[in-house]
Order: sequence, then C-alpha cells, then structure tokens
Amino acid sequence: MEVKRAKTAGFCFGVKRAVDTVYEQLEKEKDSQIQIYTYGPIIHNEEVVKDMEKKGIKVLKSQEDLEQLTEGIVIIRSHGVPEYICTKLNEKGLTVIDATCPFVKKIHRIVKRESQNGAQIVIIGNPNHPEVEGIKGWAEKNVTVIQDTQEAEKFTAEPGKAVCIVAQTTFNYNKFQDLVEIISKKGYDVSVLNTICSATKERQTEAHRIAEEVDAMIVIGDKHSSNTQKLFEICQKACKDTYYIQTLDDLDLNQLGSVETVGITAGASTPNNIIEEVQNNVRIIF
Ligand code: F3S
Repeated sequence: MEVKRAKTAGFCFGVKRAVDTVYEQLEKEKDSQIQIYTYGPIIHNEEVVKDMEKKGIKVLKSQEDLEQLTEGIVIIRSHGVPEYICTKLNEKGLTVIDATCPFVKKIHRIVKRESQNGAQIVIIGNPNHPEVEGIKGWAEKNVTVIQDTQEAEKFTAEPGKAVCIVAQTTFNYNKFQDLVEIISKKGYDVSVLNTICSATKERQTEAHRIAEEVDAMIVIGDKHSSNTQKLFEICQKACKDTYYIQTLDDLDLNQLGSVETVGITAGASTPNNIIEEVQNNVRIIF
C-alpha cells in the first residue's frame, strides 16, 4: 500500500513570494499602529486568507473600499491589478507593496508596450479571473478576451491593426494553441507570446501521470482556485475515484478503505501544512 504525493503539489514561486511578503510585513509592523491591507485576497485560498485576517490583515474587496482609505500599507495580490488601481494607490499616497507574480507582471509590460505601439491585444483566458481583469487594465484600448473556439472564430481585428496575443498564465497549453491557430488563419499581422507559466504545465503533467498509476486520487485546494479545478478535471479523467477537498475535514477516510494506492496533488495556492495533514492522515489508515 502506497501514498504518492506529487512533487509539484502546493505553492508555486509567485504564490509563495506573495504570502511571504504579507507575513514579512506583519512581522515588520508588529509594533507599529500601521494597518496592512491586501488588494483582494492575496491568493485563492480561504484558509490562508483567514489566518492572515486573524493576524490583523484587512482585505480590500472593491474599489469602493480603496476609495475610503486614507493611510496604511496596501499589498497587491499575486494575480496583479489593472494599471488604474496602481495609479489610484499612488495618488492616495498609500504605501504600496507589489506582490504581483513577476510572470504576470511581464504580461502587463508586454500588453502596455504592444498596445502603445498600436496593436490590438488578445488575451486568451477566462474573462472573470482576476489575473485577466488585471492584464486587461494594462492595455490602452482594443483588448479582447477569448476563452473558447466560438469566440476565436468570431474574432475580427480592426482594419490595418496588428494583433498581439498573450495568455493567462494558468491557461491550458493545447487549448491556447488551438485558439491561436484559429485566429492566425484570419490573415492578420499576428504576433503570439506564449505567457503560460511552466509551473502550471509541470503540475498538470505530474498530476495526470500519478492519477493514472493510483486507485484513488486526492486533489487539495480552494474551491475558487481555477488551477485546482483544472487539476481535478485532469485527475478525474485519469482516475475515477478522484476527490476534491479544501482541507482534511472534507475527506471521508472511509471511502479510501479498500484502495491500495492513493495519489495526492494540490493547487498552486494550497499551503504545505494542509497537504501534510492530509498525507499523514491517509498514511494512518493504510
Ligand atoms: Fe506565478 Fe506561475 Fe504561480 S505565473 S503565481 S509562478 S502559477
């Protein structure tokens, strides 16, 4: 009987950096009266956000919350924010700490530069995801978000405009290529920048391999985390007994009673202590 834990399970570089930034600031300001805020939840994980709130962090949930602020430190989340939010934060004279993942920041720079050069920007991604909302906000104008074949088929560029295509960092690579192919066939002057983060692909490939080898698979992550949802879909296709849990409390260990091998993976915003707690308890029943 065996438990196989994915080496890529848990925090990616960008998420770890953002979470560490918050705890470092808390430590630094522990004797001061300065309030620390994060703009939106720092990462997509309720447990982590709850722990930070317990330690005194306040989460700004909307632009209206930001309007009310007159002082304090604001930490920008790993997903990034539109440029106008950065401008607003600076205009208000707040202390801003940018914990946007550098890979996302790179997309902001590309989008700003290319749109200033007159290109029409296409973002391949989920329009409702905060990362995509942030990326959109770095284009001057002419930005289109495309997430499926139908939208790619319908896409038309303005006459004479070059088209610059970028991707949400966690978008599926094969789907990205399919959508790029559809747009490229339309005869526009297209430049494609594959901005998908390799951490996502590595995590998905390993999860798929493990799911194929085990009797049951456990995917740990927040219900709102799109990369965890994607991992769950991938694992479920390879292993019928796949469970999506946020913490150990969501797992019915009796369900695993008769299996011989269990795989464990976790989304990029799942902290190590939650993964370890699940792993240790699964080991006990074997
Ligand atoms: Fe950054 Fe890649 Fe993680 S873009 S936040 S390192 S998944």
